[in-house]
Amino acid sequence: MVKAAVLWETNNPLVVEEVELDEPQAGEVLVKVGAAGICRSDRHFMHGDAPIALPVVLGHEGAGTVEKVGPGVTSVRPAQQVILTFVPSCGRCKSCVTGKNHLCDNHGATGPNMYDGTTRLHKGDQRIHHMGKTACFAEYSVVPESGCVPIDVAIPMDKAALIGCCVPTGVGAVTSSANVQPGSTVAVVGCGGVGLNVIMGAALVNASKIIAVDIRESQLEFAMKFGATHTVNASDQDPVAQVKALTDGKGADYTFEVFGSADTTKAAYDMAGKSGTVTVVGIAPWGAEAGINAVDMVRNEKTMRGTYYGSTHASVEMPKLVDMYLAGKLNLDDLVVRQYALDDINEAYGDMDKGEVGRGVIMY
Ligand SMILES: NC(=O)c1ccc[n+]([C@@H]2O[C@H](COP(=O)([O-])OP(=O)(O)OC[C@H]3O[C@@H](n4cnc5c(N)ncnc54)[C@H](O)[C@@H]3O)[C@@H](O)[C@H]2O)c1
Ligand SMILES: [Zn+2]
Ligand SMILES: [Zn+2]
Repeated sequence: MVKAAVLWETNNPLVVEEVELDEPQAGEVLVKVGAAGICRSDRHFMHGDAPIALPVVLGHEGAGTVEKVGPGVTSVRPAQQVILTFVPSCGRCKSCVTGKNHLCDNHGATGPNMYDGTTRLHKGDQRIHHMGKTACFAEYSVVPESGCVPIDVAIPMDKAALIGCCVPTGVGAVTSSANVQPGSTVAVVGCGGVGLNVIMGAALVNASKIIAVDIRESQLEFAMKFGATHTVNASDQDPVAQVKALTDGKGADYTFEVFGSADTTKAAYDMAGKSGTVTVVGIAPWGAEAGINAVDMVRNEKTMRGTYYGSTHASVEMPKLVDMYLAGKLNLDDLVVRQYALDDINEAYGDMDKGEVGRGVIMY
């Protein structure tokens, strides 16, 4: 039995309770979870804005220690620190063999189940699903071997957990997806855990102006710690007009949507300038459509793209991000603002709803 936070019904609190977790099977690993981040993506499932099979244990931004390995596992060993990845890779599908492991087709097809379509979590006969095959809002999790990345030098669990989602997503959006060039101007719409990593990524590649856009003054002030050079409060100003004013009327070279709505996606599009690149990171409610000016896209040669998991290859990028943290290049120490016990997970999401700055983390 393990303690886990279970989502039984959308728009209801998570229930922290004992559930059964089976032994790792062939190619699977039992991880003792050390920390799990409070990311808005889990909130979308709780609100029913993103579809998922219920009941489910959420939690996809995590790190821990290998407790036990199933038959055939060779890349990790017990007692090793690992970072969990919410898109493991099967290594055989079209996405995996073309280097897009972060979009693994077989992971997509099996969803919140293990690769064989079954679950290791259950309560009596009731199977319980594993969000992202990570399910780290639990003391222990069984994950596919490719769903945990070993790191050589141990780092604090809360920082390691962030390298499971918001860090590669945000930094990768800049370096792998948009490929932001030095000296260019950047606008970031939404400055929570992921947006702050977009800002850090833009600072790392020497963007000239990094304009933080949010509806809360507290987030904007906090964003300055991570490399923002200018701020726009979208609650009382038109963010598109303000970003244009800050870029000599041109619009930004690169814009990022990091909240998750049709309106902010359209705003991120509109505030990009000629030859601008618009990168959508936030996950809007299922079915949302953002109207964009199709002529403007052509005449100004704008590029618009989405990015999942920062378009990064977890097993290659996560160890690099650990090294960057250790070298003082990623300010994850200031990013983790609040720590909670698993019992207080609903309060942790309440604090996110209230707009508390930075990242909250569940510590086990
Ligand atoms: N693409 C991916 O792979 C990926 C990975 C992780 C998270 N996400 C998504 O990224 C988004 C952000 O996640 P997070 O954990 O940083 O959330 P968060 O709640 O920490 O941050 C969201 C921020 O957006 C701000 N905001 C709200 N409305 C706004 C508006 N109208 N204009 C400007 N800012 C506004 C909030 O004040 C907050 O600071 C979510 O939609 C999440 O699901 C996507
Ligand atoms: Zn996340
Ligand atoms: Zn695959």
